[in-house]
Amino acid sequence: MKTKTIFHLFILLSSIFTITIQSQTKSYEKQIDSVLSLMTLEEKTGQLHQVSLYWATGPESPEGDKLRDIKEGRMGSVLNVKGSDKVRALQELALKSRLGIPLLFGLDVIHGYKTTFPIPLAESASWDIEAIELAARIAAIEASASGLNWTFAPMVDIARDARWGRIMEGAGEDTYLGSLIAAARVKGFQGKGFGSVDAVMACVKHYAAYGAAVGGRDYNSVDMSERTLREIYLPPFKAAAMAGAATFMNSFNDLNGVPASGSSFLMRKILKGEWNFNGFIVSDWASIREMIPHGFAEDDREAAKLALNAGSDMDMEGYCYRNNLKDLVEKGEVSLANLDDAVRRILRKKFEMGLFEDPFRFTDPIREEKALNNPEHRKAARDMARKSIVLIKNEADLLPLKKGQKIALIGPLAKSEDDMLGGWAVGWDDNSDVVSQFEGLEIRFGKENLLYAKGCGVSDSSKDGFEEAVKIANEAEVVILSIGESRSMNGEAASRSNLGIPGVQEDLVKAIMATGKPVVVLMNAGRPLVFNWVADNVPTILYTWWLGSEAGNAIADVISGDYNPSGKLTVSFPRNEGQIPIYYNHFNTGRPSLKDIPSKDFRTGYIDLKQSPKFPFGFGLSYTTFDYSDINISSDKLSKGGVVEVSLTVKNTGDFDGEEVVQLYIRDCVASLVRPMKELKDFKKIALKSGESKKVTFKIDEQKLAFYNEKLEWVTEPGKFDIMIGSSSADIRQQSVLYFE
Ligand code: GLC
Repeated sequence: MKTKTIFHLFILLSSIFTITIQSQTKSYEKQIDSVLSLMTLEEKTGQLHQVSLYWATGPESPEGDKLRDIKEGRMGSVLNVKGSDKVRALQELALKSRLGIPLLFGLDVIHGYKTTFPIPLAESASWDIEAIELAARIAAIEASASGLNWTFAPMVDIARDARWGRIMEGAGEDTYLGSLIAAARVKGFQGKGFGSVDAVMACVKHYAAYGAAVGGRDYNSVDMSERTLREIYLPPFKAAAMAGAATFMNSFNDLNGVPASGSSFLMRKILKGEWNFNGFIVSDWASIREMIPHGFAEDDREAAKLALNAGSDMDMEGYCYRNNLKDLVEKGEVSLANLDDAVRRILRKKFEMGLFEDPFRFTDPIREEKALNNPEHRKAARDMARKSIVLIKNEADLLPLKKGQKIALIGPLAKSEDDMLGGWAVGWDDNSDVVSQFEGLEIRFGKENLLYAKGCGVSDSSKDGFEEAVKIANEAEVVILSIGESRSMNGEAASRSNLGIPGVQEDLVKAIMATGKPVVVLMNAGRPLVFNWVADNVPTILYTWWLGSEAGNAIADVISGDYNPSGKLTVSFPRNEGQIPIYYNHFNTGRPSLKDIPSKDFRTGYIDLKQSPKFPFGFGLSYTTFDYSDINISSDKLSKGGVVEVSLTVKNTGDFDGEEVVQLYIRDCVASLVRPMKELKDFKKIALKSGESKKVTFKIDEQKLAFYNEKLEWVTEPGKFDIMIGSSSADIRQQSVLYFE
């Protein structure tokens, strides 16, 4: 019998054996040992090699015959292939190799597969953890029906710099909220667990601290204390690991001079050591090879040695492992144990995903057809999109609009379908199923009540369209102006030094405002923009981000009042680029600014700018209003192991039913290290009918008071803590004091 037949027979029998005992142990270690024992060095290094086919999400890769590598068993995974037919064909090729080890297929399913959800930064503004998990679950159901078993998500990078284009991919600036969202997304993607046919492996990225790149310049250096790393940037990664994430991805940046792809501190000490992570780590696109331009590796052979020994298990598009590991092991520069550990981690996931048992389990075209056009998925996308919209201003209560009003919809993004998908949307030839803002408003308000003019482009300088725009504005009762960035202006490799509204769009706003018509502005962006004139002069503003497939319907739901906006910003909006980085959980300093004015009074701040952000973390309005009262603390003293309850009453004092995100912030007033003015430690999103009151209760234990001290010990020190409950980080409505003894 041929080796392969024996091998397959053994794998089949042992997998059946495993499945029968799966409920107890879910261990495949014996099968992995057996496969390892049959593998040549080339085959082992092949498992650590990943390439992209069909399209590239990074710079060109070294030339190589990728299909031959697959056929010769020198490939572990392929990325950027979608569709059960294409995946099946490549899997069939892989099974022709000597041992027929199946491939893993990965893709950036960041915020939806065929049904596109809002960009993650928008989703985070919903503060609805369940809805965020559901969005990831739906993405997994669709992707896994299309041949994929691995998504390069969630991106969990904390970001405090709006110049960085990838701020759109994460959950904003806060560690507590970012950690909850990281875990929710992992659970959504992985569902009932590996082995269920609608689960995909999550990939937590970019490990680590990529969001702190100097100047907001993508791929750039990060320099920070280990304390800041552990307190602010690592917790979302840890939360994802504790949620059972299957894989992690290296980041491009160097951290304190060591490229993440070569950092044994990050990979072996923390992730695989302290957190006991048993999945595998894939590099980012050629990030192992890029240790050469980093000046950390002489050549790709040294890059391979440094990366493998530091704990990076799979080389995405770098060809460093494929071309060098055999020689490095033969010469003893990389131990066979380290190589086998990386192979073992990858094989373990292939077994757990059921790929040995059935390599084609993710390539069922009938399941694919059903999953990709599921109306329930579109409904969930519309719900998430509505919840992601943030009401920035609504002076004179212009919103919600009354039915029957003549509306002029103006702006370069009003009819765009592509732009509604935002950055890192899965690429499709046809996006006509995306509901544009024009379509959504037309459906909701009627063709006869909707006028349209483009007005101008996103970033060109022509004002030729202004006349037509002004004309239809004068014919309407109200104007909706849809302005902002194009989707290509944010995401990867899209850092901006100027965060203003591009082109002549602001001039268009001014021209429309000059008509005297009431105006609603929709801000389309993947990041905080600097839009001071609009913010100061336009009475009604919605931040609509990039809301995905159901963008137009969701915006119509909010504008019509069918849904009362409930979103809250998860990132501070700077007044200008000079104010960056700006974030709510800052230290007080020895000379805190006492007045929010430009000042030269020997206090921190600027002489030419207010100190506060334009819009603070946690901010978002509603069509109704909420009153906070009657705060009560079960005890003003907390001791080790104890729990204190803080409760208050929240009342809907307006005319609309609505939802409010009640936020709990805590400040450690005096400690062995200076502590932030406030830190988000809990929140509750509650629904209240007009006139309804609810009691909201938070539990505080010592974990909510803890921090890393100078020795990097996670401690809670005795002393006074301010307890603050607010509608945003800058709108504290109720306060109390707690003493930890
Ligand atoms: C890109 C991105 C990463 C993505 C990978 C594969 O360069 O940095 O987030 O998952 O390549 O597309």
